[in-house]
Amino acid sequence: MLSRRQTLAGSAGFLAALATASGNRASASRVEGRVPYGACVNIAPLQDEAEYRAALESYCQQLTPEYGLYWDYLRPTRDQFNFDYGDKVLAFAEANEMLMRGHTLVWYAAMPEWTKQISSAAEAERELAIHIERVVSRYRGKVKTWHVVNEPIEETKGKAPGLRPSIWLRYLGDRYIDTAFRLAHQADPSAELILNDYDIECVGENFAARRQALATLVRDLLGRGVPLHGVGLQGHLRGKYQIDSDGVTGFVAEMKSLGLSVHVTELDVIDADLPPEVSSRDAMVAARAHDFLAAVFAGARPEVIATWGITDRYTWLNNGKSARPDGRPARPLPFDYDYSPTPAFFAERDAIDSRRTAAQPGSDPYAPFNPAGVPHPEQD
Ligand code: G3I
Repeated sequence: MLSRRQTLAGSAGFLAALATASGNRASASRVEGRVPYGACVNIAPLQDEAEYRAALESYCQQLTPEYGLYWDYLRPTRDQFNFDYGDKVLAFAEANEMLMRGHTLVWYAAMPEWTKQISSAAEAERELAIHIERVVSRYRGKVKTWHVVNEPIEETKGKAPGLRPSIWLRYLGDRYIDTAFRLAHQADPSAELILNDYDIECVGENFAARRQALATLVRDLLGRGVPLHGVGLQGHLRGKYQIDSDGVTGFVAEMKSLGLSVHVTELDVIDADLPPEVSSRDAMVAARAHDFLAAVFAGARPEVIATWGITDRYTWLNNGKSARPDGRPARPLPFDYDYSPTPAFFAERDAIDSRRTAAQPGSDPYAPFNPAGVPHPEQD
């Protein structure tokens, strides 16, 4: 057994330990009955950084291109489709016996300039159909799960939120969501199609209102016979708020009762408002992640637990309005900038591994999954 110091010595020590202990890295974390773990993938380190690839190989069973399947990346012009990013992530996933998740077919954001010329319902529907048909059929039978519509619920300021404004809502009305799902199902009838949204996890009026709005939207879509198979809880947890455990468990249980699968698709913890000191900040990040996953599992067994990135080195949270005002690097993910496991790693691993179904006869489903003998923080 490696000592805690050796094991957590940093990227090389930790990942090498895992690889050695497990032989084939990818198999290290694929254990019968365990909820798959995944991460979004940034194309630059995937191509340039061995440690980044090693972390993905050692831990992931599913990968999501971070921005390579957005409209703006895929389609800089109306007639161009750049599948290079998606194809490279798929090739890496397939080489490592992993699945790739499709993110995302329809979103209000990351739209290329030319789509501002769309000026009628007929044109909007035509472009939507061309896009979904071309993208989904390229990965037919390979991408098993699509985030068909991302973030359909509008930002709330405490009121009952409606649908978020977008070119799709403007020209096609609220039935744009029905259309998107039907087009995706037509392009790949075997694909699992999910609706993906955020800010439904915490205590607070606006979180509760968004949860309610998403549940209502889901029930309406199912009522209209839309081929909706699951719901994605993004899980960008706002670290300064407590998790609404009863609210999350109730929402997840309701999705399960409607026959839908539940996916945690973009888990990380926004630590912008947490204390600067690393150990207390890490502890709060880990606690939020643990509480959220515990609440999800209490409602239903999720299909996947995916974090939005695997290392703090490439988190989106170092940029834009969610970045820390003090300029310190964010620490939202299971591995820090140097690929050392953070307390969130152990909290997320234990939340996942302590809920394996008893797949092996006689196995103890609650024995922590620990292929490399990585000591838990409390062990020495
Ligand atoms: O660096 C590349 C550049 O080389 C390339 O030429 C250019 C072409 O578009 O893209 C540049 O990358 C930018 C990337 O961030 C850099 O990391 C993309 O333009 C930009 O779109 C991208 O921003 C993404 C953001 O969504 C867009 O709103 C983030 O990567 C991504 O992490 C973030 O993820 C979203 C989820 O999709 C949905 N849920 C919320 C989540 C966080 O906002």
